[in-house]
Amino acid sequence: MARKIETALVQSGRAPVRQYGFVNPPLKRGSTVLHASVAAKRALGPDAAFEPVEIYGLMGSETHFALEAAIAEIEGGTRAQVTGSGLSAITLPLLSYLRAGEHVLVPDSVYGPTRGFCDSVLARFGVATSYYDPMITPGGLAGLFQANTRVLFTESPGSHTFEVQDIPGLAAVAHAHGAKVFLDNTWGILHFAPFRHGVDVSIHALTKYPGGHSDIILGAVVVNTDEDWHWLRQGALEIGNYASPDDCWLALRGLRTLHVRLKAAEAAGLRIAHWFAARPEVARVLHPALPSCPGHENFKRDFTGACGLFGVVFQPQYTPQDVERMIDALRMFGIGVSWGGFESLVLPSSGTIRRTAGTGRFEGEAARFHIGLENVDDLIADLDQGLRALRGA
Ligand SMILES: Cc1ncc(COP(=O)(O)O)c(C=O)c1O
Repeated sequence: MARKIETALVQSGRAPVRQYGFVNPPLKRGSTVLHASVAAKRALGPDAAFEPVEIYGLMGSETHFALEAAIAEIEGGTRAQVTGSGLSAITLPLLSYLRAGEHVLVPDSVYGPTRGFCDSVLARFGVATSYYDPMITPGGLAGLFQANTRVLFTESPGSHTFEVQDIPGLAAVAHAHGAKVFLDNTWGILHFAPFRHGVDVSIHALTKYPGGHSDIILGAVVVNTDEDWHWLRQGALEIGNYASPDDCWLALRGLRTLHVRLKAAEAAGLRIAHWFAARPEVARVLHPALPSCPGHENFKRDFTGACGLFGVVFQPQYTPQDVERMIDALRMFGIGVSWGGFESLVLPSSGTIRRTAGTGRFEGEAARFHIGLENVDDLIADLDQGLRALRGA
């Protein structure tokens, strides 16, 4: 019987019988793993490194494997590889799949450091990147494929500008051209089933909602076929990919409550997004669940819910200095990168984002809000006085 997502989050990766009855898997730290004999070590076989087998700390321990099993299950995939950060969950598959002379298509709305990696490391190793409009139609995308295009990278919704991509439509075009589809699915955790929508490689910054407490840095890459697992795991072994078992253990603990935290974040985020949408200072709200967000129709079709991260575009008369004054006036919103923790955060979008394909332009200045688990009335009262500061009142 297939278990539902809430049950999987509670049960996955646990084996109390093996754990002396303890509810949680052990936190195993270590480099060397001792074997009973040379023959016992040899008996592991040449493919052991592709399985959850303790061979050497670098290749993972029971702690890593427990988290990987849980992440693979909640994503609907077969295997997962944890990585040292969300960014390395992006760079690992790019390095594993691409070779010199090939080409990758990347959305203009991609997370900034992904763009940085493509423009520096991939370029140095002879891989070319083209940036495309995240709202491109499948027909438009078909025209961008070259004979050497090996990967279609997607991120939906986009960083800061929240465009929701037509992943099934774009994936069908990529597959028709023999390319793999990668998705940074960090925002869509629990709400977007990547492999049911044509994705081959799903990427997560576990730093965000799975960690949930702003105290770990961690990533994961999930695949759904043996072929993709081979590419990914081979790359991880060759590069020396590693993640701290302490952070894996904390991420696994975070998963147990992810569903309730995310539900609360979704409800609070939606309430505040609607509150912003009714304010005269606001031109539009970039929340995928609101019609004012590019790609809202894709969100309605493909997602089962939202998290608490969205953008707000202010009316054109407000300057970057006005937005900065508003942000500085907020008392309950921390000013800082990252998101998915228990606390509310805000960042100005202008000056933070870079676009080179002519997209991401809106009516006015924008800011990104992450709604945490504080009381929503308290947050709204704070935002109300923040908007007064925006107006210079
Ligand atoms: C969409 C997205 N992907 C990946 C990352 C990278 O995660 P990490 O900070 O763990 O490297 C971030 C971080 O902000 C992000 O917003």
